[in-house]
Amino acid sequence: MPIKYMPYVPNTVEGQAVLDNFMRTRRILRYRDNYKVYDRIQRGMPLYEAESTEIIGTEKSQNLLIRGECLSACAYLKNNNIQVDLVYIDPPFASGADYAKKVYIRRNPQLAEKIAQAEQELSIDELQAFEEKMYGDIWNKEDYLNWMYENLMAIKTIMSETASIYVHLDWHIGHYVKILLDEVFGEDNFRNEIVWCYHGPGSPGMKQFNKKHDTIFWYTMSDNWIFNEDNIRIEYKDPNQSLRKAFDTGEGWTEEDIEQMREKGKLPEDWWEIAVAARFKIDEINRVDYATEKPQKLLERIIKASSNEGTMVADFFGGSGVTAKVANDLGRHFIHADVGINSIQTARDRLKIAGANFEILDIKDGVSLFRNPVQTMDKLHILIKGLRNEDALDSFWEGAIYDSKWGLMPVYLPNLLDHSTKVLDLVMMNRIINEALPALPDETKRVIVYYIDIDNRDNIEKFIKEQEVALIDIVLRDLKEVLSEAVVADNIVYKITPTNKQYTVEILQFVSDRLREKIDQYNQKKGLNPNDYAQMHNTPEETAENETPKPAQQKKFQSIEISEHGLELIELISIDCTSASGVWTSDYEIKIDKNGYLIDNGKKTKTFWNGNFVCPQKPLRLKVRNIAGDETIISLVE
Ligand SMILES: C[S@@+](CC[C@H](N)C(=O)[O-])C[C@H]1O[C@@H](n2cnc3c(N)ncnc32)[C@H](O)[C@@H]1O
Repeated sequence: MPIKYMPYVPNTVEGQAVLDNFMRTRRILRYRDNYKVYDRIQRGMPLYEAESTEIIGTEKSQNLLIRGECLSACAYLKNNNIQVDLVYIDPPFASGADYAKKVYIRRNPQLAEKIAQAEQELSIDELQAFEEKMYGDIWNKEDYLNWMYENLMAIKTIMSETASIYVHLDWHIGHYVKILLDEVFGEDNFRNEIVWCYHGPGSPGMKQFNKKHDTIFWYTMSDNWIFNEDNIRIEYKDPNQSLRKAFDTGEGWTEEDIEQMREKGKLPEDWWEIAVAARFKIDEINRVDYATEKPQKLLERIIKASSNEGTMVADFFGGSGVTAKVANDLGRHFIHADVGINSIQTARDRLKIAGANFEILDIKDGVSLFRNPVQTMDKLHILIKGLRNEDALDSFWEGAIYDSKWGLMPVYLPNLLDHSTKVLDLVMMNRIINEALPALPDETKRVIVYYIDIDNRDNIEKFIKEQEVALIDIVLRDLKEVLSEAVVADNIVYKITPTNKQYTVEILQFVSDRLREKIDQYNQKKGLNPNDYAQMHNTPEETAENETPKPAQQKKFQSIEISEHGLELIELISIDCTSASGVWTSDYEIKIDKNGYLIDNGKKTKTFWNGNFVCPQKPLRLKVRNIAGDETIISLVE
């Protein structure tokens, strides 16, 4: 439940061109078939409680990693009077894809050295791995645009007077969002459409050009903006003969221009050729393992051009943390927000290795109850006992539960991927009563309405009574209670031995039911369909539409086996020696990279983890993150 709603200010810029996809009444932008966005904008941004979960680094800083939706992150910033000077966002594209994280089984520490002697270094593709869904961007255009509109309005609310925003999109939805951007920021504040071009193989038989560019729209808040042209000049190369001719005939640069460019470098055009972040270069700091990760060079150019040292750079769809990492390298402050826990963990580890100081906040917006919204939605279907598909019901209902007294009870579930259905409010209840209930089969006596977040339960119950829907009983249920059953902590068996004012921590056994279940499912599924294995070697980024997975990458399926002690399921162990409760301080930590190499307190090594480590102070709490990102904390204080 939000603590309060923060107003979106200032309002949209009026008087812009609007495509037929939208309509305008009384000079207010409204979307066809969706009046609700207007109500939501009127209501404001939902401000939720924010819990500080960890502080990294020795110096106090303004840098933040926020786990939460863009809207709630902006509400938090607004409530705390935090403004940002440069925003880069790369939101999901409405491409219809589900993005997955590859989960690598680490080496068995007891065998790591032996394996290493035999094979020196495994290529990433030979490591045992399975996939976990990370985020999905399945939308219809109107819903996506409504969602985007709210996000842009929220971001605008916390931008400073001289701030810039760069919105990274592609052919799926970019042209529509340009109209929204004109609407929200004003056509006069549009600065550039940047075309980021890159190379990549098409596939044989493709009957169209190879789609290899994205579009980045740059807007400013006012006509007083930062542009550091001298920081971004590139090497000037003499053009070829035919271009020279154009210069000579006065259509291009003068000799003087050319002389100056030879000396100072050239201002880049609005098309940038920058290589994609290569998957074979994954190194935990410059390129991490995150689907859709953008290259550092792209962010470098944007941040150098449109911000100064000491200013605040924000990315509200932060993903791998590339914006924060580059901002930190360039002496800017950063805010990285993302709805998924995998993003927060990936960015946290990357920024820690980079030596950044920052605080991690968890926004209690109820969206990420189980790792991330996509996985939470998948889990819900299993957790609601008796829920089954029912052909007689329309798609508004998730299915139905059969009960001997009430008969078939249709079940409504909010869609965590669609922000607009997350809060059960009067608008949604009105829709349920006046649109969804009348369409149900006549014999329906009861429906179950689950919610993640409810606007005001008393008001909603009063509203139900007033509507006199006596024939159908409406039962409201909190989804969080269902989900709390799903989150069972992992079990860690450990031994701590004090030696010479130091403490040797030995992990004897690690049992994760969540992972075991997942691995069993994977083995069973892939055992039945060994050819599916090829697909996991092509991320959505690599296998573009119209391309088929490359047959050369097909491999024979081998089932994943986990040892008795299960240590190969551990990704990170952190020790808090500062306090036994509250905000986490990682006084000492080890991370095991995909190849089994140890990252010792943020320093990469070429040694394998052996199952132990030595902690320089008395440990008070132990946190273990498994390879899928679930974290378990145990207190070491009797
Ligand atoms: C295309 S990726 C961003 C990749 C990032 N630019 C990078 O280079 O790593 C989009 C990200 O948006 C996040 N996301 C999706 N919906 C969100 C929301 N409502 N609020 C915040 N983050 C969201 C996803 O978890 C995902 O990490």
